[in-house]
Amino acid sequence: MSEQDLKQTYESLKEEIRYHNYRYHVQDDPVISDTEFDQKLKQLRVIEANHPDWVTPDSPTQRAGAVPLDKFEKIEHPAPILSLGNAFSEGDIRDWYERIARLDDRVRDADFTVEPKLDGLTVVLHYEDGNFSLGATRGNGEVGENITENLRTIKALPLRIPVSADGPTPPEVLVVRGEALIYKEAFEQLNQRLEAAGQKTYQNPRNTAAGSLRQLDSKSTAERPLTLLVYAIVHHQNGEIPHTQWETLEYLRDLGFPVAKTSSYCKNINDAVALCLNTDRDQFPYEIDGMVIKLNDLDLADSLGFVGKDPRGAMAYKFPAEEVTTQLNDIGINVGRTGVITPYAVLEPVEIGGVIVRQATLHNFDFISEKDIRIGDRVLVKRAGEVIPYVIGPIEDVRTGDEEKYTPPENCPSCGEPIVNPEGEVAYFCTNSACPAQLVRNLEHFASQGAMDIVGLGISTVQQLADANLVGDLADLFTLDKSELLDLEGFGDKKADNLLAAIEESKSQPLRRLITGLGIHGVGEVAAQDLAERYQDLNVLSQATKEEIEAIPGFGPNIADAIMEWFDNEENQQVLKKLKDNGVWPVENVKVEQGPQPLEGLTFVITGTLPNLTRSEAKNLIESNGGKVTGSVSGSTSYLVLGTDPGSKYEQAQKRNVPILSETDLKQLIEERTK
Ligand code: IVH
Repeated sequence: MSEQDLKQTYESLKEEIRYHNYRYHVQDDPVISDTEFDQKLKQLRVIEANHPDWVTPDSPTQRAGAVPLDKFEKIEHPAPILSLGNAFSEGDIRDWYERIARLDDRVRDADFTVEPKLDGLTVVLHYEDGNFSLGATRGNGEVGENITENLRTIKALPLRIPVSADGPTPPEVLVVRGEALIYKEAFEQLNQRLEAAGQKTYQNPRNTAAGSLRQLDSKSTAERPLTLLVYAIVHHQNGEIPHTQWETLEYLRDLGFPVAKTSSYCKNINDAVALCLNTDRDQFPYEIDGMVIKLNDLDLADSLGFVGKDPRGAMAYKFPAEEVTTQLNDIGINVGRTGVITPYAVLEPVEIGGVIVRQATLHNFDFISEKDIRIGDRVLVKRAGEVIPYVIGPIEDVRTGDEEKYTPPENCPSCGEPIVNPEGEVAYFCTNSACPAQLVRNLEHFASQGAMDIVGLGISTVQQLADANLVGDLADLFTLDKSELLDLEGFGDKKADNLLAAIEESKSQPLRRLITGLGIHGVGEVAAQDLAERYQDLNVLSQATKEEIEAIPGFGPNIADAIMEWFDNEENQQVLKKLKDNGVWPVENVKVEQGPQPLEGLTFVITGTLPNLTRSEAKNLIESNGGKVTGSVSGSTSYLVLGTDPGSKYEQAQKRNVPILSETDLKQLIEERTK
């Protein structure tokens, strides 16, 4: 091949690679395989090795490789890199709109764009004659830092625009603004890799993105999965640019820049408000902390000027924060039902997303040492959706030196017995089965909705009973007497009667619920049901062999061992005996081949005295037809079965608009649904 032909091949190869890079990193829609791509890149490298004089900075091989810097050079921005005003409610957005509409009537007929407010690091990208020539951080808005070499490593960043030959011709000088960030999934994968390699993990995508761009050696930046989204033109010379924000987004996209797909055009403020309020941040593949509403007419927006550093023509609607920092005042210890000891953070109270958070989970003791979390640290805490707030990690930069290193306790804080950390496990245990903290958790579990469903016996009452030494094990619940209860704080006649009645009522719970309530390690509601059906009586179950249990579908050796251990334990045998002596000894009705289940999926609550059926007969009727019976009205209650002299459940059902059935209605419902 002649030199000239080779040069031709070289140029078209660069073009091709640039295009595939764009398909992959900007459009997220590759048209060739990774292997094919790598082959092309390799071919390019070979040519460049033989012709170093041909290599230009826009070559796809030139993303990482610059020599490490000593420090970042300061860069004056060609125009101020403005910030944004914040709105936290619909009212705030409407106030902003009214303010600017009063300044200029044209706002009343204005249209808007609504864009995700990207939670990354603001970057300013300069292009000269279509070549990426300089990239800077925002800095103070006037002067930023030159991070060009780091930005070059971001594959979504075009080194040349337009990326494809049929794109528009950009102005000679074009300066755009965007956000460098890391996708949530890429972040998770990065942390998984680090964890597998036994290295320290990162706190969140934002800080990781920001930290990555502040590396003096761009090779480190290249190792992080950074990406980019752009949303504005800051400055241009010699050329035309659009006059509306919506067209700007389109234009940037046509030049080959990555632009958020989820930006929207809104013909008026009402549509824009509705969109802001109805956006679910979790639907985005990257983290956003709000939505930005912008006047679409950029000339109008410019003419409104700014307040401080905030342009009047745009507003950020901020979602409630999910992450905040606060002080870690102490580390508390929780003893679980099975003796598992877990640490939790005692925090300086802080608001996160409208809720005051005082405690957060610290996962386990290994987590504390891996993250080097110290008492007195400022910590980053996250509370998102339904999950329990958790500590992400310490902010090491603000340490004063007064923070205290933490060592896990050697003794159980409840009973004082030594804590064990079995070889190779992250969990720490208190193995004392008589540990009061475990007793409380066990009783709480025994009384819970999925087990014996004893209404009124929640954690605080259980704690009271244990503190007053009224119960030493589960079975003691059934020998409580009223005079003892009346001595407890907050217990009057009615409360004591109600609790005793609820305990009495629980005696008619079926065997599977009692088995669930025993709290055998690994035996939840489903396993308990299998055991109840198979053994029908606790005595029979207690004599089962390990082989027998292991042979039940869904049961493994671990559960079988746990069951063996539980029944072998002498204290547990005492509990069983006491339960039997007190009439808590349900036997499972033999299920003669399962009949139709017309009430499947429905949940019932029974209150008051029914005309013909006793409480437990009504319950059996519902359960044998596939329905569930619970002790209290909740969002998942399908029907209330009502008798005479109902309790407070009746009022609760009315409040929640739960449909009400008489005994006859119930029987009819079963009949109708059987047909
Ligand atoms: S527009 C005049 N649009 O949020 C234009 N900013 O809290 C002002 N940000 O400093 C910026 N996503 O760095 C704009 N879609 C978006 C944005 C966005 C994130 C950043 C921006 C700004 C900060 C303000």
